Amino acid sequence: MMANHSQIVNHPDTILQSLMRLPQLVKIHQPNNKIFVENLALFRMSLQAEWENQSELSFRAHRGRIYLNNGKLAPSNSAMGTTISKLMESWESKGMYGFTFTRKDDLTDQDIVDFIRAINQSYAQPNPAQWLEEERKGTWARPIVDQDFKIAVAFVTDQEGRPVGRPLVWNKGTRTFAAKARRSYSRALAVVSGLDDKLLSGDTISIAKSRRVVQDMVEALFHEERLLLNLSTIRDYDDYTCTHCVNVAILSMCLGKRIGLSKMAVVTLGLTGLFHDLGKVDVPIELIRKTAKFTKEEYETVKNHSLFSVLRILQINADHKLKAKLILPPFEHHLGIDLAGYPVSDKHSPLSLFGRIVAIADHYDALTSSRSYRPVPMNPEQALDIMTDLSGKALDPLLLKVFINMVGIYPVGTLLVTDQREVAMVAETPPDAVDARPLAYLLEKQEGYIEKGDLIDFSETDEEGHFIRNIVRCFHPSDFGLNPADVLL
Ligand SMILES: [Fe+2]
Ligand SMILES: [Fe+2]
Repeated sequence: MMANHSQIVNHPDTILQSLMRLPQLVKIHQPNNKIFVENLALFRMSLQAEWENQSELSFRAHRGRIYLNNGKLAPSNSAMGTTISKLMESWESKGMYGFTFTRKDDLTDQDIVDFIRAINQSYAQPNPAQWLEEERKGTWARPIVDQDFKIAVAFVTDQEGRPVGRPLVWNKGTRTFAAKARRSYSRALAVVSGLDDKLLSGDTISIAKSRRVVQDMVEALFHEERLLLNLSTIRDYDDYTCTHCVNVAILSMCLGKRIGLSKMAVVTLGLTGLFHDLGKVDVPIELIRKTAKFTKEEYETVKNHSLFSVLRILQINADHKLKAKLILPPFEHHLGIDLAGYPVSDKHSPLSLFGRIVAIADHYDALTSSRSYRPVPMNPEQALDIMTDLSGKALDPLLLKVFINMVGIYPVGTLLVTDQREVAMVAETPPDAVDARPLAYLLEKQEGYIEKGDLIDFSETDEEGHFIRNIVRCFHPSDFGLNPADVLL
């Protein structure tokens, strides 16, 4: 059966999948093989469909994401997320950043085969990127070898991956900030969404992948804490819903490291963070997505998720000893140190250390992220205020102090309004900052976009020792429709 147009749901996705599959297929199949021919046709038709809109298509990996021309491509599902991260790895191993496809009206399957073979041949060369660039010069499909990519306009993309809305940020220059941490973060996201898919389809999940991804993050964490912590606060709102679990894992691990836990203990802690809400797959999806207030019965159902998480963890294919360590914090994460939360029982013993840590991370991430029932997230200052009110009740006071110290009063990504009527986005708070005064990038409103300005230091004083700028208000970046990742990374 030949592939036809109606089968192609999302052309950019198909193009990326083909770039992933075809180099393998060309190696194992004869040119007339059915699967191979079908895949070639899908690739060709997707390219042709996209060429209707724009005559040049550049797929470029940039800081852990894929851009089509200037628009960011959001993975449409978890399988696509995995494809994208694998593709980026394979490009990176060749020293490339992606591919450009220029419209060719008489494109044949043979043209595609030649291109795919060249990719495979490049692997055998000492400098694959250079060789492939030379080999493909002037043709319709060429590798991207220059690193200098400016996200001229960061679009929000729709489900088809097409840019919608107005351009957000003009990001001058490029930086290689945290590429590695960024990669382990996106891998963690892919793993978590894979877990959910597997659970829903009734497959057994094995601990290996999750452990690897957590170990990766722990390495990054012990190397430089700031990087991962920033990634968890600079969240990408348009990414997977599993962001929450990854963030809770990261925030828990950072807190664990701060209080001096060993690397091994931090890995276990990270896994419990990753799994703490696993039981949500057993709560009806309508409830998870519900925007209105829960009825009493609905709330009772939602409350079951901590117990469900325990059951789900018990089904994971892993060592019993490890599982025994992993079940307690998910069970406890809504219980509170005063044991007034849920699951309700009169037989609770005091909360475990990991349970207390995960509860703090969970509260913070839940409060500062946009959820279905609260589309506008709180700013970190408000969130920390609420959490301070819970200190000694639901949350452990001592751990909370360490946590507040760790995330800072003005976490990365927070928007600050100065007494000079400027708007700036927090980039970092140096450990020695006066009164936790941060460094922040000025954001200047231009016609149709926002330009990232200079880095300013809120600790700076004039000759008389007065602060040059003061913070008068702070906002959550999404209040302005901004994604911190587009400004800071
Ligand atoms: Fe939960
Ligand atoms: Fe949670």
